[in-house]
Amino acid sequence: MVKVFTIIQTSNLKLKIIQMNFDLTEEQIAIRDAARDFAENEIAPSAIERDKNAEFPKDIVKKLGELGFLGMMVSPEWNGAGMDTISYVLAVEEISKVDASVGVIMSVNNSLVCYGIEKWGSDEQRNKYLKPLASGEKLGAFCLSEPEAGSDATQQKTTAVKEGDYYVLNGMKNWITNGISADYYFMQAVTNPEVGYKGISTFIVEKNWDGIELGVKEDKLGIRSSDTCSIGLNNVKVPVENLLGEEGLGFKFAMETLNGGRIGIAAQALGIAGASYEAAVKYSKQRKAFGKPIAGLQAIQFKLADMAVKLESAKLLTLKAAYKKDIGEKYIKEAAMAKLMASKVAVENSLEAIQVHGGYGYVREYLVERYLRDSKITEIYEGTSEIQRIVIARELLKA
Ligand code: CAA
Repeated sequence: MVKVFTIIQTSNLKLKIIQMNFDLTEEQIAIRDAARDFAENEIAPSAIERDKNAEFPKDIVKKLGELGFLGMMVSPEWNGAGMDTISYVLAVEEISKVDASVGVIMSVNNSLVCYGIEKWGSDEQRNKYLKPLASGEKLGAFCLSEPEAGSDATQQKTTAVKEGDYYVLNGMKNWITNGISADYYFMQAVTNPEVGYKGISTFIVEKNWDGIELGVKEDKLGIRSSDTCSIGLNNVKVPVENLLGEEGLGFKFAMETLNGGRIGIAAQALGIAGASYEAAVKYSKQRKAFGKPIAGLQAIQFKLADMAVKLESAKLLTLKAAYKKDIGEKYIKEAAMAKLMASKVAVENSLEAIQVHGGYGYVREYLVERYLRDSKITEIYEGTSEIQRIVIARELLKA
């Protein structure tokens, strides 16, 4: 054993081993702790009521913006917090531990909205739209899905026809997170139907423009205090300067922003999985059966051990995806793996947390039933688990 150790120490491998550092920086820890404090003190007290009443957390979102949590990775030049993706993951996880609805509102604004306009927008667009989005003064939504185009995103039918200084948009978008509360929509529409997905473009559309028709707020199983609705577009006149990037960039914009979005949803799922695990540990230490706390029973210990292992695995995948994004490496596969794994763990851990709680897990008082309701969507939105497998397999087979 000593000999092997010596060889490793004197070879180049040693440097690689030492470089694999799992420690967070002081700044990342400070951000995580600030998010945790905010979540526990400001979000948790009203989370149950908001879930019950499907009430959007308007004041909380405003405060999140003031604290810099809505434009976390945006440069300070555009009113963002200039942080890394790892810090973002830690913050979304902490917030989602307490309320996954707030987690998704935050994730959409950061990953699907701010990222895209910072990367592809003009300086005029960044000044006018990114600054208020990054500071939380305004909220954004990402509008891709349609009644007949969700997983098969190339099949979008919303049209944008250029007429002088405007594009005229017609169509219908579905399942839009932040749909009701957002001020700005990042709207995908077909500008050239002749060239398939290469004819899709993205437009920045303001909610109060003529022709925007909001559908009713969806009555959802979980993440009930985030709002989701369909959006109809009836001859909406969008000034040409609100085209993001260039015509035909839309699908690339969508796919690339969704890669980052998947890291955000993985972080949201980690929050739910972690909250489920912690609730199970806490309850199992308090609840007595067969003459001792149930944490002393092997049947419960195995569940807790499995929950902890799954949580840690999902966390490592998510942090790896975030790290690769931060250092500018390709992260398509890692983001899809992180989302696939973390969403699965969120569902499984929340189910197990209910099982550990027995009948108490089935009633609202103990929170774990909400974790299960909130977890399911993480396997569906921003690419279903089936889509993540397609993305992963395609990347694997490219190699
Ligand atoms: N990253 C970057 N580029 C990608 C990509 C990715 N993850 N996936 C595909 N592309 C690129 C391809 O490279 C290709 O580009 P080129 O022609 O330049 O090579 C182009 O996109 C078309 O790709 P494919 O040929 O693979 O197209 P496909 O139709 O066979 O499959 C898909 C594409 C991966 C299935 C894609 O449609 C997809 O990701 N679907 C899921 C969409 C989704 O996540 N929908 C929900 C989002 S909105 C939401 O959840 C609501 C909300 O508010 C939160």
